[in-house]
Amino acid sequence: MTFLFNSDARRGAVFAEAFASELPELPFAMDQASVDPDAVRYLITWTVPQDLGRYRNLEILFSLGAGVDQFRFDAVPAKVKIVRMIEEGIVRMMQEYVTLAVLALHRNLPIYLAQQRAGEWRDVPQLQAGSRRIGVLGLGQLGQAVLDRLKPFGFPLAGWSRSQRLIHDVTCYHGDLGLKQMLAASDILVCLLPLTDETRGFLNADLFAKLPAGAALVHTGRGPQLDHEGLVAMLDSGHLSSAMIDVTDPEPLPAGHPFWSHPKIILTPHVASVTQPATAARAVIDNIRRHRAGLDPIGLVDRSRGY
Ligand code: NDP
Ligand code: OXD
Repeated sequence: MTFLFNSDARRGAVFAEAFASELPELPFAMDQASVDPDAVRYLITWTVPQDLGRYRNLEILFSLGAGVDQFRFDAVPAKVKIVRMIEEGIVRMMQEYVTLAVLALHRNLPIYLAQQRAGEWRDVPQLQAGSRRIGVLGLGQLGQAVLDRLKPFGFPLAGWSRSQRLIHDVTCYHGDLGLKQMLAASDILVCLLPLTDETRGFLNADLFAKLPAGAALVHTGRGPQLDHEGLVAMLDSGHLSSAMIDVTDPEPLPAGHPFWSHPKIILTPHVASVTQPATAARAVIDNIRRHRAGLDPIGLVDRSRGY
């Protein structure tokens, strides 16, 4: 039985140390070329290797990231469990990023950055937090953690998910009607949806039109969920006030793309959250222990839902 780590050596060294101390009986490998493929029971990777079929006894395919949209599910045998990354480092960083973004848009930072570049000293009317409504698309691991971190600021909080959720101090919506209701009441919309067939192209001009005039967008889900032209049109028309965007399609954006220089957009290069190897290794080790005890791993992907 072997655990195969298929990523960079720096993170691999952290995983190797954690496995040596926590699961010394499980051989740990980082070299696909020399590993005995029949011994590999667990594989962690960012993308599915072309030659996955050689690991005939694979039991769990772990994603190095929280998202699993980079996996082609049909390339993974049905008997193999697919598990996404749920670990405290990713959660903490996403809480930081979305808090930063919500506060930046709430406090009109894109306007002040543009004014600074133009040498202008001028205040704009400031809404109080109690009047700035935040709506989060996706109430999973990250959406809920982000809402929790935003609570002390006093924003009215809402969230939307596929199934009905109940979260203290958060107005929870679900379904098509719920989406419409939440959009109409979101001054800052945060996207933390996984990329699936249903969410591809989800953030488009039609959806933005359902937001109140002057609303803003924080996008930390996945690039293909956002229609770039739709966003730029809504910003240019003034219907949307600003956006902070962490994920795009493609990544990186080509030179000359409007997002690079748009005065109402703050752009970051897919850094909202990054898997932290020490905490990720602990999460994977716990999941292997659960699996061996006959329990489902935490973060088990439902292939039919796509996340
Ligand atoms: P989860 O799987 O825990 O949660 C997903 C949420 O989205 C759930 O609430 C789910 O509803 C909801 N959802 C999914 N599809 C739909 C739909 N069609 N309609 C309505 N609601 C839907 O995911 P995480 O919170 O862990 O992560 C979310 C995403 O964040 C990741 O998939 C990844 O794309 C992105 N991410 C981005 C990072 C970055 O650096 N920018 C870093 C890490 C993650 P329900 O509760 O009913 O199942
Ligand atoms: C992830 C990411 O999915 O970094 O973890 O986007």
